[in-house]
Amino acid sequence: MNDNLSVVILAAGRGTRMKSRKAKVLHEAGGKPLIAHVVDNALEVARADRICVVVGYQADQVRSAVGGRGVGFALQSEQRGTGHGVLSARAAMPDEEGRVVVLYGDCPLLGPDTLRRLIADQRESGAAATLISTELDDPTGYGRIVRDDTGAVRAIVEEKAASAAEKAIREINSGIYCFRADLLWMRLASLGPNPVSGEYYLTDVIAELDQAGDRAAALRLPNSAELLGINNRIELAEADRILGERTVRRLMLDGVTIRKPETVTIDATVTIGSDTVIEPFAQIRGDTRIGESCRVGTAAILEDAILDDEVVVDSFTIVRHSRLERGAVVGPFARLRVDNHVEAGAHVGNFVELKKTRLGAGAKAQHLAYLGDSTIGEGVNIGAGTITCNYDGDRKHTTRIGRGAFVGSNSTLVAPVEIGDDSYLAAGSVITDSVPPGSLALGRARQVVKEGWARKRRAAAPVEKVP
Ligand code: UD1
Ligand code: MG
Repeated sequence: MNDNLSVVILAAGRGTRMKSRKAKVLHEAGGKPLIAHVVDNALEVARADRICVVVGYQADQVRSAVGGRGVGFALQSEQRGTGHGVLSARAAMPDEEGRVVVLYGDCPLLGPDTLRRLIADQRESGAAATLISTELDDPTGYGRIVRDDTGAVRAIVEEKAASAAEKAIREINSGIYCFRADLLWMRLASLGPNPVSGEYYLTDVIAELDQAGDRAAALRLPNSAELLGINNRIELAEADRILGERTVRRLMLDGVTIRKPETVTIDATVTIGSDTVIEPFAQIRGDTRIGESCRVGTAAILEDAILDDEVVVDSFTIVRHSRLERGAVVGPFARLRVDNHVEAGAHVGNFVELKKTRLGAGAKAQHLAYLGDSTIGEGVNIGAGTITCNYDGDRKHTTRIGRGAFVGSNSTLVAPVEIGDDSYLAAGSVITDSVPPGSLALGRARQVVKEGWARKRRAAAPVEKVP
């Protein structure tokens, strides 16, 4: 950590090019808002109390998107440009000593190693400001780095203000800077509006420094992968793809098999144990933790799920905020909606929905069932078509099924109801009353067979068959 280093992060703009009601920095890539990536990166090089996020448009939402990290905020109520934005943080900044790193909230791919390199470069070179630049085949939209014959950086020219010759420059400003604090504040205090746009550009500080005899420098990176600034939804998708690819590569190097990795989405927050296999098109999001030797099937969706070792989540299954113990098998086509706990070795099959349900060890619900607000004991068999009627129109009620019970197909359990251990419910029953342990409960009309009935009916009223 650098004790005399402060960080200003600009996140006050709306981001008109996103064409969104939502502030640009709140849009997500890699499973978290853009601004959260930038703040987390800053926290790798500076103390939280020396980081200031400049907010403006949707300030409250931006504050809460990085809530709990302990960083400070400054309000820029009118967005008059990036220079004006940095100046809005002045009062919140500790002192004029040391360095100020400036980051833009729309640049989520930058890694801490590159940031550390920038800070070291500025410190060693003694430049008034060092910025990160790179060469792009298509520099459109970015500020261009203007150098003189000796190669020294003289200014940054924004696209809007650039001449044809300047537009041809392929070296661009990434918007990542490390300034000497005293010089930054001095130049910002006297910065005028850009003559072309009328905005107060932070980039104009570079020419101001130059004119005052203070040298700026550029750390030119050969690889632009970390420097993508997000201004529209195409770039947002690209950042999401790059962040996802980083996660997938890291997991594969850690021993996870990922088939057709380019189709799989895994948030950076997810952990996966070795020898687990992830099939194509799986989406694994949020605070999901997956153990070793599991299998996540094709197009399965996991969100905030906890899987112990050797769990199978088969194809086209959705698991949200649920825990699956060792050896559990769910899916294909199952939906574990929220707050479920599937104990060791239990099976949940196709078209079974679980909500707030605990399924005991080795229990099975293999086909076509809805189990809500239920506690189901060890080794229970839930027949196809079983429904827990947990809602009476006003309130939710619970169903308890004791260990070893057998629930016949197409049973309807009207909650609240309790089924004792080792009991049997006959297929097709509507169960409204609790069943003591070891009993058989039947709740259906007795079958009646009238032999010869059909023959007699046809004889009494013959019907001409329609061809
Ligand atoms: C900026 C740079 C450009 C650089 C590019 C890199 C300026 C003038 N231009 O252009 O040289 O190549 O980034 O991505 O700095 N913001 C505020 N307050 C404001 C204006 C902007 O907080 O008054 C914030 C925005 O919310 C955004 C960031 O600053 O997060 C950058 O603003 P943006 O409008 O995206 O600048 P670019 O046009 O991308
Ligand atoms: Mg931008």
